[in-house]
Amino acid sequence: MGDITKTTDSLSQAAAVTVATSVKAAPRAVPARLRDILALDDFERHSKPLLPRMIYQYVAGGVETETAMRNGRQAYQDYGFTPRALVDTSARSTQTRLFGKVYSAPFAIGPLGGAAFVAYRADLALAAAARSCTIPMILSASSLIRLEDVIAVNPDAWFQGYLAGDFDRIERMLERVKAAGYKNLVVTVDTPILGNREHNIRTGFSMPIRITPRVMVQSATHPRWLLGTVAKTFLKHGAPHFENTEAERGPPMMSRKLRNTVARDKLTWEHIAFIRKRWAGPLIIKGIISPRDAFTARDHGADGIILSSHGGRQLDHAMAPLRVLPEIAASKGDMKIIIDGGIRRGSDVLKALALGADFTLMGRPFLFAAAYDGQRGVEHAYSIMHDELMRNMAMLGVNTTDELNEDFVRKAGPALS
Ligand code: FNR
Repeated sequence: MGDITKTTDSLSQAAAVTVATSVKAAPRAVPARLRDILALDDFERHSKPLLPRMIYQYVAGGVETETAMRNGRQAYQDYGFTPRALVDTSARSTQTRLFGKVYSAPFAIGPLGGAAFVAYRADLALAAAARSCTIPMILSASSLIRLEDVIAVNPDAWFQGYLAGDFDRIERMLERVKAAGYKNLVVTVDTPILGNREHNIRTGFSMPIRITPRVMVQSATHPRWLLGTVAKTFLKHGAPHFENTEAERGPPMMSRKLRNTVARDKLTWEHIAFIRKRWAGPLIIKGIISPRDAFTARDHGADGIILSSHGGRQLDHAMAPLRVLPEIAASKGDMKIIIDGGIRRGSDVLKALALGADFTLMGRPFLFAAAYDGQRGVEHAYSIMHDELMRNMAMLGVNTTDELNEDFVRKAGPALS
């Protein structure tokens, strides 16, 4: 869909001119179902009533007091722009290079475990949309679709591993991922055990799923999800399994068998050194917050880190990634920084890039987009973000994402509510 990207580019430029001159934008062919979706948050609002409460909360929620989740997002409000005027930006482009590939925009679709239980075959929809829009898509280790099937849809997909501290299991997993053709490997390191997701208990959601009366009532009252995601999956593909946590297929979602979360709390830098020796392609460590860890990752030969508190789903009160970004960016060397957590607007992406990030990543908005309208929804989410970036780049006075630096932002103090 290089062509679609081009079309979106010219649409975006038209939109940018519109903003500048207050002329009404030419209507574009947006399907009726998506016409009310003007910003990424609209996907969450529109998909909430379609999903059982337990599924909505599984995606939307954080841990404990949800402070880490809120702060991750709030941090973006603390910066304001200092745009440059009278710059010719008519040739601007959102294209950004990362690990030797030019992407059409500086944001990726993050790994989303259990996505195919939220939206029908969601990992494939996300992978296909990422391919057509030329942005990275990272497949989660906790996905319910075989990693081999995902790379068949998108040969540029990345793989994210949840690895146990066990050299033999790591080695076998790496062989499988390599044999499938993945080039970019993400290792998530903020999940030695699962965070305290009280909302799962409150709404009756569990892994493995237990069919309690509460779960049955929630499911029966959300027929679009029950029929369109669950029944369709069971009828066409059988019971969903955790396909990609180990070299071998994992247990079915409904099984009481233990998943391979065993010994994840034994994973250390020694294992990262071991992985680095065996993985020739880009190696990215996800879930780093401490500047010390960022520099240790760099010294272990990581090509990149994902500066992340897991969207506030692991350690509550973890610092907002944006607040530690400048300190890490100042000494990152050649290592790339991808940042996530609470990014919902093109302006958030531009602030992160100005403060030293090389790329950004989003999780929840893309999954809500897939739940609302499958691949088409995810592509619409892309267009919204792309248009916001193009518009804001014109008003900031930059032609490329590389031009952004700390001179374009100032600490604005907490937002007034
Ligand atoms: C996640 N995230 C995640 N991260 C990871 O490394 N492996 C995983 O399997 C998952 N699974 C997952 C499921 C769901 C439903 C969500 C919402 C998130 C975290 C994700 O990749 C990313 O770090 C956050 O979602 C970023 O925050 P935002 O964009 O959702 O605010």
